[in-house]
Amino acid sequence: MYYSIAIDGPAGAGKSTIAKCLAQKLGWVYIDTGAMYRAVALCCLENDVDISNETKVTNQINNISINIAYINKEQHIFLNNKDVSTDIRNQEVSLAASKVAVFHSVREALVKLQQDLASKGNVIMDGRDIGTVVLPNATVKIFLTASSYERATRRYKEQLEKGIIQDFEEVLKEINHRDELDYKREISPLKKADDAYGVDTTGYSIEQIVEEILILCKKGENNSD
Ligand code: DC
Repeated sequence: MYYSIAIDGPAGAGKSTIAKCLAQKLGWVYIDTGAMYRAVALCCLENDVDISNETKVTNQINNISINIAYINKEQHIFLNNKDVSTDIRNQEVSLAASKVAVFHSVREALVKLQQDLASKGNVIMDGRDIGTVVLPNATVKIFLTASSYERATRRYKEQLEKGIIQDFEEVLKEINHRDELDYKREISPLKKADDAYGVDTTGYSIEQIVEEILILCKKGENNSD
């Protein structure tokens, strides 16, 4: 049996940074499930598929291949055999990903891929429905939160470090809009699993949170002995 850590939470809560750091410390594989929804969204955008039309999006997902590979221990995502790891990281794709993620067909296909990956080794997986749907028996479940103001501030600074200047109010608006889509969708909404530990990252450093989660993991391992 393999161990798994499920990390869920809203956009910008620090999931991927924390999950990567944990994966490095534990020597486990990090699986970024948001990248998969982003790849579906990118494919729809590139092919002018109406992302509000479930039938058309379903048609698209039935005719594409999404694969994950690890290059220098970093997750890369391939859409129809093309590495799209960089192309999926922009605002247009972020919003489109939240929109295609409401469809049952999209979730069904991606959850299957995620469960398949988790069946092959110890993993840390982040997303919105990992503790509730994808890995209901995860060894440890974490629900990361932070105020939307803090999350927008982090996003704004991250972009600034990349030389991208954005309007802060716009960043905050986008975070709030994605929260609305992720929390309120009918299928597998963003939700804390009953047995997940809630961790509010507001005002804490990455190192402090990683340490806290490692302590929770120790408890989880002891409980599963
Ligand atoms: O984590 P992220 O920002 O890369 O995710 C992009 C979108 O994908 C997010 O707004 C909602 C969706 N998503 C999801 O519905 N379920 C997941 N497990 C991961 C992401």
